[in-house]
Amino acid sequence: MKVIRTKTYEEMSYEAAKLLAAQIVLRPDCVLGLATGSTPIGTYDQLVKWYEEGNLDFSAVRSVNLDEYCGLDGENDQSYRYFMDHHLFNRVNIDKANTNVPNGKAVDPEAEGARYDELIASLGGVDIQVLGIGYDGHIGFNEPGPAFIKPTHMVELDPSTIEANARFFASADDVPRQAITMGMGGIMQARKILLIANGAGKKDILMKSLYGPITPEVPASLLQLHPDLTVICAVDE
Ligand code: F6R
Repeated sequence: MKVIRTKTYEEMSYEAAKLLAAQIVLRPDCVLGLATGSTPIGTYDQLVKWYEEGNLDFSAVRSVNLDEYCGLDGENDQSYRYFMDHHLFNRVNIDKANTNVPNGKAVDPEAEGARYDELIASLGGVDIQVLGIGYDGHIGFNEPGPAFIKPTHMVELDPSTIEANARFFASADDVPRQAITMGMGGIMQARKILLIANGAGKKDILMKSLYGPITPEVPASLLQLHPDLTVICAVDE
């Protein structure tokens, strides 16, 4: 595990974008595993900047996103598909047909999970997976629980996650109660993992995840077992 502590969100974003850009330069048709939420926005902005300056080419890049809310389609401005289009895909020369987000409107979430895992396998797996971390230690929407769940699956969101994500909706009542998320298996199979965390409020859970016992009660703690984990964080006051 490599930990890079930065002083500011901007510096964290710059360092994270450097790793992703290096991956794209190294393998132009790489598979990026992407996350939503507030943390990666600056990273995506930096990638867009390098693209606009002519230094980065997304034309052959493929991507898979971690998760999507159940019940929302890509037109809904709270969906993660919409988020990705808005913050990254519409701003670079990626082929939208090569971008993948779980289908939140799937009638059979179990079949959708199986389809998504097969899709990831057919792409040859994820080269680098970006992760944020929830205050309860969730990654993707793998919430604390009695066991690590391996495949892509549907989850009931934890009340603390609903509360944390209410800031993006008109009210907590509007936050979907369920989501489809890549499981811990899909995440751990990525060849590289890049975990980013911002804000002093994330420091405790980050320390617990990286240095505490490995337990499904702290889903991110499993990352300790990944052979190529880079953590970039701006969590000091
Ligand atoms: C988003 C995701 C979540 C977030 C986490 C942190 O695709 O999978 O696990 O990374 O909830 O969210 P922020 O960055 O908003 O603090």
